[in-house]
Amino acid sequence: MTATIIDGKAYAEGLCARIANAVRDLSGQGVTPGLAVVIVGEDPASQLYVKNKARQTVDVGMRSFKHVLPASTSEAELLGLVAQLNADPAVDGILVQLPLPKQIDAQKVIEAIDPTKDVDGFHPINAGKLMTGVPGLISCTPLGCLLLIQSVRRDLSGLNAVVVGRSNIVGKPMAQLLIAQSCTVTVAHSRTRDLPEVCREADILVAAVGRPEMVRGDWVKRGAIVIDVGINRVSNPAAGEGRTKVVGDVAYAEAAQVASAITPVPGGVGPMTIACLLRNTLEAACLRRG
Ligand code: GUN
Repeated sequence: MTATIIDGKAYAEGLCARIANAVRDLSGQGVTPGLAVVIVGEDPASQLYVKNKARQTVDVGMRSFKHVLPASTSEAELLGLVAQLNADPAVDGILVQLPLPKQIDAQKVIEAIDPTKDVDGFHPINAGKLMTGVPGLISCTPLGCLLLIQSVRRDLSGLNAVVVGRSNIVGKPMAQLLIAQSCTVTVAHSRTRDLPEVCREADILVAAVGRPEMVRGDWVKRGAIVIDVGINRVSNPAAGEGRTKVVGDVAYAEAAQVASAITPVPGGVGPMTIACLLRNTLEAACLRRG
């Protein structure tokens, strides 16, 4: 079996085109959705993410508000900015880029964001709504994963899903989304006994652990849908001294021999995260002002 490659880049472009149409209609009614992105410090990876988010926000016709704060920013200063953005009627969505410097308690900042503007879906109110099946803002990466899974199989009812990773950002909300689709869900993690055997039971396998190519081909059930959330930069001596490349959490070439469908890295889940962020910002704008 050679797997269908799930083209997340193409899916995300289509989603962004639909969002841009909806934003044009809303703007015609005098409502232009706005997304505020806050970055604290100079982490190069975070800076790149934030730059891409701001560019794509403008590309779909939304207003982008970028706040760059020094690494020495205090928790009180950041909480002050969040309060200001909560009160700003032009801001529909607030994203505080993680990780934050160690003097700032990230959970405190997340909980300070108005849940109706929490386009990351990280606030306990939104996490709780997802868990209880109440409409709310849903964490972008798991939402993107679900859309990609459903692009190859609409009805997931009764399927065995294994989510490897239990983070608040990906693993836990992913499990909730799959439960809501009537999957039988197992959340595996670093302490799981015989992880390969657990993965072999999966009709849907989502890998979100941040360990390069950890999931091998012989961990994958024949015909499974494999979603790779990992973005790991590793050395690539074949391309020359000091060169690097990006790989996922799944050994792609091996898994693609066995799976029915698989997301590549790059070009799979990654582009969906920003598209879902814009989708959440549009939804937040419609709910607050529509
Ligand atoms: N850092 C890495 N991914 C994310 C994300 O999805 N949201 C936020 N706020 N920070 C991140």
